[in-house]
Amino acid sequence: MNNKKDIHILGIETSCDETAAAVVKNGKAILSNIVMSQIDSHKRFGGVVPEVASRHHVEVITAVIEEALEDAGLSIEDIDGIAVTEGPGLVGSLLIGINAAKTLALVHDKPLIPVHHIAGHIYANNLVDDLNYPLLALVVSGGHTELVLIREEGQFEVIGETRDDAAGEAYDKVARTLNLPYPGGPLLDKLAQEGKPNYKLPIAWLEQNSFDFSFSGLKSAVINTVHNITQRGELIVPEDLAASFQESVTEVLVEKAKRAMQEHNVTQLVVAGGVAANKGLREKLKNVLEEGHGYKVTIPPLNLCTDNAAMIAAAGTIAFRNKKFASLNLNGVPGLELESM
Ligand code: KG4
Ligand code: ZN
Repeated sequence: MNNKKDIHILGIETSCDETAAAVVKNGKAILSNIVMSQIDSHKRFGGVVPEVASRHHVEVITAVIEEALEDAGLSIEDIDGIAVTEGPGLVGSLLIGINAAKTLALVHDKPLIPVHHIAGHIYANNLVDDLNYPLLALVVSGGHTELVLIREEGQFEVIGETRDDAAGEAYDKVARTLNLPYPGGPLLDKLAQEGKPNYKLPIAWLEQNSFDFSFSGLKSAVINTVHNITQRGELIVPEDLAASFQESVTEVLVEKAKRAMQEHNVTQLVVAGGVAANKGLREKLKNVLEEGHGYKVTIPPLNLCTDNAAMIAAAGTIAFRNKKFASLNLNGVPGLELESM
């Protein structure tokens, strides 16, 4: 039933290599969620090529938005606001989504809602669970690794972040060393399930009490291990190396999340970003935090962990309620900082 007080937000996401549009009701219910992936076009280059990404977004954005509305069974007139990723991301890609959102906002006289991509990843959790504040978010994506303390809805405080590579970036680089195709993260995860952590690899704990991360040393250690073994004319066991790498990454992520929860008296953890799809990480979080400490751990299903527009609409609903709107001068900001909504 369509209650008059219901809020329907159209979300648009084009920050990287997915063209996505979705409609979410009241920040909680997904009415439609369309994601067009360009992965196949970027695969042969071993990574995302910005110019190729922009061109793909231009080609499909209109059809993706139309499909999202059609799937939701709504017309643009039923939409209360248009939420779009402002940044961070590839500027040429961001601008395609932003221009589509601006056009709709202008023509149909709807509020334009700017959303930070990471706020979107975090609020994907609102689509699957009730959120009890204060809570901690573990953000692990291709571009970010952060611990974010959220004392109240939409209030972000970054208490730890990576000093070099993001977790997903480290996964993709190590996967490339093992000759896995782009994006290597999911394949490395699969390989790790079949191996044992028999290789000794470092864990960067950094200074005591620091909630920051560092993954570049671990990445170099994997590369050196591969070189040393092949130089000796021996064969590496890729499954075991993947399992060892995964063990080092997940150990530090879970342990630091646990310490942050203890220090800030938080009992719910929400996990966000593409690496939240990682099987080893999901298992360890459940084992250590839920079974070990009785904390509540919320992890979205795989299709809501990777880039999508339902998460942008979910976060956009909070900004809509707080009347955080943008003018038609909105621009794409590649290095946008995470600010409260
Ligand atoms: O959040 P996301 O879709 O895009 C960004 O905003 O960065 O994250 C993509 C990243 C890639 O680095 C990809 O390799 C990684 O998430 N990823 C994984 C898994 N699935 C995706 N990394 C490890 N294990 C996975 N299962
Ligand atoms: Zn993302």
